[in-house]
Amino acid sequence: MRILSGIQPSGILHAGNYFGMMKPSIELQEQGEAFYFIADYHSMTSLTDAKLRREYTKRVAIDFLACGLDPKKAVLFKQSDVPEHVELSWILSTICPMGWLERCHSYKDKIAKGLATNHGLFAYPVLMAADILIYDADVVPVGQDQKQHVEVTRDLASKFNELYGETFVVPEPRIRREVAKVPGTDGGKMSKSYNNTIDIFGQEKAIKKRIMGMVMDSRTMEEPKPDAEENIAIQILKHVADEETYLETVEALKAGGFGYGHVKKKLFECYWEHFAPARKCREELLANLDYVDQVLSEGAEKARAIASVVNKRARVSCGLE
Ligand code: ADP
Ligand code: TRP
Repeated sequence: MRILSGIQPSGILHAGNYFGMMKPSIELQEQGEAFYFIADYHSMTSLTDAKLRREYTKRVAIDFLACGLDPKKAVLFKQSDVPEHVELSWILSTICPMGWLERCHSYKDKIAKGLATNHGLFAYPVLMAADILIYDADVVPVGQDQKQHVEVTRDLASKFNELYGETFVVPEPRIRREVAKVPGTDGGKMSKSYNNTIDIFGQEKAIKKRIMGMVMDSRTMEEPKPDAEENIAIQILKHVADEETYLETVEALKAGGFGYGHVKKKLFECYWEHFAPARKCREELLANLDYVDQVLSEGAEKARAIASVVNKRARVSCGLE
């Protein structure tokens, strides 16, 4: 089984990225041949600061390794080190009906918010399809918000195969229900774009402030809260606490006499502790940045060896060769 996923270097990684995409990807590295990349080409559709892109790209690599990505088991690389993605993206764009892209939420949402769009943003799912198809990937671990993009990928693979003969593997999204949509501090989907994130590797004080500032309803401490499982702090606690602590906290909220302040405090403690081993590993990586560069350059070489073969197969299928 070949597994592939990517993440954009367009900001600082948060708990939604971690539980929705990074953790499942890291676990899957044990089960197949895994390829994970930093989608720097994609980040260009929203970020136009070159220095920041360089910084975030390095940071995503460091953070992914700190969280447990093992370069002996999974190939980690930077998308733009494998320019074949872009050639395949062009090839796929010629068979992609406009309507498929006009329907995509990522694009529709930006239009609805009145944000400036660009051709790259419109064509984003086609590049993503190329990213996936160029590795003959079977499985794509992502959060719920990327499901539609993987569906476009499947449709493009099938259409190309019909037009030009069997060329691509049709991949499947792998979305874990329990982390499909990690809530942010305001109750909406946690996202870099909504200023509602809790960073994985933020400073202690800043993380505490974020958690203590989570938006709750106005019920008093005394009131029993029978819907405790719906609470956003509880939903995140479920991912960072051991089961006993989680159940105890849910029961306390349900019983009454236990307020949201208590829950947030518990969440902060568990959150901080949950990421302690990764934080330690990250410190070590920061002191050894040459190692990170080496992982990326070896990763690019391994990725390119496969991408060039599949790209050539596509070129032959459609008569470029
Ligand atoms: P953001 O919305 O913060 O810009 P990205 O779009 O860069 O995040 O997402 C990177 C990966 O993390 C994707 O696989 C996405 O599905 C996943 N992801 C992002 N936010 C969440 C969330 N709140 N819950 C679950 N998964 C998420
Ligand atoms: N669009 C994904 C996101 O914003 C990132 C991405 C780019 C990706 N190419 C991919 C994810 C290929 C999985 C597979 O999160």
